[in-house]
Amino acid sequence: MIKRPIHLSHEFLEEVLDGNSIAVDATMGKGNDTAFLAGLAKKVYAFDVQQEALDKTQERLDQLGISNAQLILDGHQNVDKYVEDPIRAAIFNLGYLPTADKSIITQPDTTLVAIEKILEGLEIGGRLAIMIYYGHAGGDKEKDAVLDYMSHLDQKLFTVMTYQPINQINTPPFLVMAEKLS
Ligand SMILES: C[S@@+](CC[C@H](N)C(=O)[O-])C[C@H]1O[C@@H](n2cnc3c(N)ncnc32)[C@H](O)[C@@H]1O
Repeated sequence: MIKRPIHLSHEFLEEVLDGNSIAVDATMGKGNDTAFLAGLAKKVYAFDVQQEALDKTQERLDQLGISNAQLILDGHQNVDKYVEDPIRAAIFNLGYLPTADKSIITQPDTTLVAIEKILEGLEIGGRLAIMIYYGHAGGDKEKDAVLDYMSHLDQKLFTVMTYQPINQINTPPFLVMAEKLS
């Protein structure tokens, strides 16, 4: 069966992760991506602005016996305050956490600051996956801002791709992938 964007996002990052890698989950939520990255990397830095996300993720990591993730109650726009080592792989799932406060959504300005800092911190060959959910109020604006920013990255420095369903009704999420070249 054809891969969904969310599955490709994991495969794309999995290809470059190993036991020496540093990974970043920029939007922790319930910890799906944190747990996935932690299973492959040396250490994961995971960010969210909601305590509920940290609690849910910690519970999940405890159940899985995972202890190599640092859960950070702060916005991803402050990623450089916490992550000093070069980053091998990072992921964003934009939008809101369906099971929590739906008014807490990622915002274009802070998302772009975080993307810029993470791209700066990526190792050569490092990868960034951005899952764009844009069906909610404000989502379109963030989608456009991210696509505008990513499509203007210097092609000598980054390869950038999208993977998107184009014949579905509504606003299915899609994936933007970037790899650092030099
Ligand atoms: C679509 S959800 C993430 C889902 C998550 N990947 C999972 O596995 O459950 C988006 C998350 O981003 C968080 N968020 C919003 N603004 C943020 C910010 N500035 N920094 C970090 N996280 C933020 C929200 O609280 C929400 O939990």
